[in-house]
This record gives sequence, structure tokens and C-alpha cells, in this order.
Amino acid sequence: MVKMPAEVRETLEKQKPVPIATASKDGIPNVVFVGMLKVLDDETIMIADNFFYKTAANLGENPQISILCYSSETKKSFQIKGKVEVHTTGPVHEEMLKWVHGINPKLPGKSTVMVKVDKIYNAMWGPAAGKQIA
Ligand SMILES: Cc1cc2nc3c(=O)[nH]c(=O)nc-3n(C[C@H](O)[C@H](O)[C@H](O)COP(=O)(O)O)c2cc1C
Repeated sequence: MVKMPAEVRETLEKQKPVPIATASKDGIPNVVFVGMLKVLDDETIMIADNFFYKTAANLGENPQISILCYSSETKKSFQIKGKVEVHTTGPVHEEMLKWVHGINPKLPGKSTVMVKVDKIYNAMWGPAAGKQIA
């Protein structure tokens, strides 16, 4: 696990929607946008699964996730790699439901995807592109 530096956290928190990539156990990639993504602390990101289909299937067989963010203001971009735990009951799931239903009570809140950050890479173009920063 690594801690997200402030610049990474700020870039991710300002981006909406956020592209997230998952893969099947055979390595078939899939990218979707999510709006309901929240940074809980420097190591942990919560994502609300309201409509995941291939994403849910992928996370059921492969816990790896890749999250991309970019700021046109700061010209910073990062790839955040992590592993997920998926919750459908319990306090973490209840917390997600409270958050999501505070925004829209009609959302299904099917499951809660908790990401623990493993690695972060610079994704801005230039000489440092692709370099691991944490
Ligand atoms: C702007 C935007 C925001 C979205 N936000 C979410 C979200 O927060 N949670 C969610 O479950 N799906 C969200 N979706 C739907 C997913 O992007 C996607 O359509 C869904 O997971 C089905 O694709 P899949 O079969 O690849 O998983 C959003 C879609 C768009 C276009």
C-alpha cells in the first residue's frame, strides 16, 4: 500500500467523471466512467457500484483496478493502481449507501468497491511520463 501525495489526491478529487479500468481473469480490459468516487484517506478510495456489469464481473474474478486522472489547470495526470474489496453488507456498505442516497435516493447502491492504493505513476506527457512516483 502507498499514500497518495496531495497533488494526486487533489487531481483525483477534482476530476469527474473518472475513468476506471478493470480486467477479466483472462486479461480482457474494460474501462468505464464513474461519478461516485470518493477519496476516504490517502490510501483508500470508495466507489459506488450502481450500474456495474462487466466491471462487477471483472472485480469478482480479478481485484486489480487502474484509475486515471488529469487536471487541465495544473497539467498533472496520474495513474493510480490498486486492489479492491467489494462489500455488499456491513458498515462500509452502509456508509456508501448513506453517501449515495444523500445524493439520489433512487440509486440502487448494489455494492461498495473499496480500493487500496498500491502504486502511482506520472501520466503527464514529457520526460517523466510513465515513471512511478509512489
Ligand atoms: C458520466 C458517467 C458517470 C457514471 N458514474 C457511475 C457510477 O458512479 N457508478 C456506477 O455504477 N456506474 C456509473 N456509470 C455507468 C458506468 O460507466 C457503466 O456504464 C456501467 O458500469 C456498465 O458498464 P460495464 O458493463 O462495463 O460495467 C457512469 C456513466 C457515466 C457516463
